[in-house]
Amino acid sequence: MNIGVLTGGGDSPAINGAIRSVVRRAHHGGHTVFGFEQGWRGVVEDLGRPIGEKDVSGILPRGGTMLGTSRTNPLKMEKGLEKLKATLKHRRIDGLITIGGDDTNGVARQLCEMAIVRCVGIPQTIDNDIPGTEFSIGYDSALNIVTEALDRLHTTATSHHRVLVCEVMGRDAGWLALLGGLAGGADEILIPEVPSNLDEICQRLRQRTERGKPFSIVAVAEGAKVEGLETPISQDSSVDAFGHVKYGGIGTYVASEIERRTGFESRTTVLGHLQRGGVPSAFDRVLATMFGVRAVELLESGASGVMVVWQASEIRAVPFQEALYKTRLCPDQFIKLAELFR
Ligand code: F6P
Repeated sequence: MNIGVLTGGGDSPAINGAIRSVVRRAHHGGHTVFGFEQGWRGVVEDLGRPIGEKDVSGILPRGGTMLGTSRTNPLKMEKGLEKLKATLKHRRIDGLITIGGDDTNGVARQLCEMAIVRCVGIPQTIDNDIPGTEFSIGYDSALNIVTEALDRLHTTATSHHRVLVCEVMGRDAGWLALLGGLAGGADEILIPEVPSNLDEICQRLRQRTERGKPFSIVAVAEGAKVEGLETPISQDSSVDAFGHVKYGGIGTYVASEIERRTGFESRTTVLGHLQRGGVPSAFDRVLATMFGVRAVELLESGASGVMVVWQASEIRAVPFQEALYKTRLCPDQFIKLAELFR
């Protein structure tokens, strides 16, 4: 087989580990690999190169993606589908491995349904919100970054007797804020799953101060729901090729409201893309390696229209329709756990 591989959407650490794994397993099976650059844009515009074992040597600990990424939607581009088909034919691609989130793999799903090319998806997003898999590549690395940031914020919050609000990524699900907040000992956690009431939060912060804790740490997901705010706060009204607005600003809003309502000096830190960069965690490297191998095996077995997933410590495959266009929210059990520690 000649296997095409592409990486699309927002990047995260450990994507390179998945590419390396695809290449290694493919070569083991006597297949060749063609890497498309810049996500789906590479397939439409025929950007890419064959990748061999030498090309992936030493990339396991490197963040980012050696193939580059974009949020291109070929199905929305003029003659996008036509050009994409021409590239796949010209490059003699027998099957595609698509590494990305909902949008990247959603395109793969549509191509499979139109019988244009066989595709196997690998879930990759620091948001960890893809249904069907308990872990997506990148989440664990980002979670460690959030935890370390909260640890650092703790020491300075203690010195200054401040409320420090940390805004983290998470558009529709609060995995990073909730589990990062639990790991980093946040006193309040605001997520998209449950609308938060700022008066109640301020009341609890006052009580903390009365108990002799004159500082607080607040973790806020960028898409957190806050009572009184109709929609999450976005940077502007522009949308990407998949219709997503740029979230951001909720941390500043929450900090200023806490300061206004309590009089406690408050500051905001926005972790932003720091969460997506740098060295992958050990878990993510192993996950990426396992996903890459299974994706090639699935193509070898003739499968298509599926995504590799981690379920109960096993790597399995689920049909795209079970894994896409929905959001995997944080379960109540974790939300209740966090409430105990606020
Ligand atoms: O999709 C993952 C994600 O990290 C979201 O949490 C965030 O809203 C988005 O990417 C930001 O992406 P970018 O700024 O790269 O367009």
